[in-house]
Amino acid sequence: MRKNPLHTQLCDQLGIEYPVIAFTHCKDVAAAVINAGGFAVLGQTQHPPDVIDANIAWMREKVGSKAFGVDLVFPASVPDSGAIDELRAQIPREQFEFVEDMKKRHNIPKWRNYPDDWNLGWLNKETPQKQLEVVLENKVPVLASGLGNPDFVLDRAHEQGILVWGLVGKPRQAKAEIEAGVDAVIAQGYDAAGHTGKIGTFSIVPQVVEIAKETGTPVIAGGGITTGRHLAGAISLGAAGVWTGTVWLASRESDVNMIIKEKLLAAKATDTEHSACVSGFTMRTLTSQWHREWASPQAPRPAPAPFQLLLFGDIKASAMDHGLENFMTEAAGQGVDFVKSMKPARQIVMDMVDEAFEIFHDICGQEDA
Ligand SMILES: Cc1cc2nc3c(=O)[nH]c(=O)nc-3n(C[C@H](O)[C@H](O)[C@H](O)COP(=O)(O)O)c2cc1C
Repeated sequence: MRKNPLHTQLCDQLGIEYPVIAFTHCKDVAAAVINAGGFAVLGQTQHPPDVIDANIAWMREKVGSKAFGVDLVFPASVPDSGAIDELRAQIPREQFEFVEDMKKRHNIPKWRNYPDDWNLGWLNKETPQKQLEVVLENKVPVLASGLGNPDFVLDRAHEQGILVWGLVGKPRQAKAEIEAGVDAVIAQGYDAAGHTGKIGTFSIVPQVVEIAKETGTPVIAGGGITTGRHLAGAISLGAAGVWTGTVWLASRESDVNMIIKEKLLAAKATDTEHSACVSGFTMRTLTSQWHREWASPQAPRPAPAPFQLLLFGDIKASAMDHGLENFMTEAAGQGVDFVKSMKPARQIVMDMVDEAFEIFHDICGQEDA
C-alpha cells in the first residue's frame, strides 16, 4: 500500500492530521487551525506572564485535549534587564534624532495609546525567562524558540513532557540545536516574514534535513510557504511539516488591523523588505515609509536591538493610533503573493492540503490516503 505523503512523523508525534503548523499571535486563528487538523504555535513574546497564563487557559478551553505550542524568543544581544522607559532613555542619540526629524517632516503626531505589552520579550534577557516559567508550569505541549538556542531549557522542559523546537536560519545553528537535543528544528529561509537569515528556503531546508538525518530529528520547513504547492515542495525536500506565518494574517479570524490586511492582500513579494530598520536585526516586513526613510542616503545605520525596536514602536503606535497608512507595516514573507482573499483559517488548511495531495497525485500517481 502507498504511504500518505502528508502523514509524517510530526503527525504521529503531535497527534495531528496534517503537518501544517501555524505561527500566529491570534488565539482564534490558532484554535481554528488546530480544530481543522493542523497545529498552531501561539506567539507570546509580547505578553507579560499573567496574560500568557490566561491565553494558555483560553487555548485549552477551545482545543480540549489537542496539543498546541507557545513561541518565545531568547535574544542574546539585548541588555540583561531594564524596563521600557529605562531602555528608551538609552536609545543612541543619532538614531533618536533622525526619528525626531522624521516625525517633524511627516507631521507624525504622538500616539495616544502605546500598547503597554508590546514586544516585551525583545527588550531584555530577564523578561523571556519569566515568560518561560509560565510555559513550563502550564506544561504547554510544545515550546518553540523563535530566536536563540533553547538548549538551556531542554532538561526542564523534557521533565515536564514538553517538546522543544528551535528555529534556525543557518546550518551551524541547526547542528548545534540538534546536538543539544531539540525535538524538532524549524529550518527557515530568507523568504520568511520576521527575523530571518540570508539563505533561501529551498537551500536551507535540504541542508538541515541532511544534518538531522543522523538523529532522526524532524525538520519543519519555514519561509514563504503559503500554498499546497509549497507544502508538497517542503515534504519533497525532506521536511516533516511546514511552519507558516504570513498566510494566516489576512484570514477571517485574524485580529490584524483591516488596513494592514488590505495591504497584505494587495502585496507582491517585492513589496516586502529584509532590513534591520524595524528591530535592529534583519527582519522581513511590508515596505513602508519607515523603510524608505532608513534606506535614504542621509539615514544612519539602524540602532541595535532593542533600541531600534523602541524607535519603530513609537512610530508604529502613532501610525496605528492615527491611521497613518504610509507608516503601517507588518511582518510578511515573500509568499504573500499568493495571499489573495480573506479566507477562514480552516479553509486555508484544507486548501493547502488538497492542493498538496493533488500535486503528489499528478506527479507520482500518489493516492491520498
Ligand atoms: C506578523 C508576524 C509576526 C511574527 N512575530 C514573530 C515572533 O514574535 N516570534 C517569532 O519567533 N516569529 C515571529 N514571526 C515569524 C514566524 O514565526 C515565522 O517564522 C514566519 O512567519 C514564517 O515565514 P512565512 O511568514 O513566510 O510563512 C512572525 C511572523 C509574522 C507574519
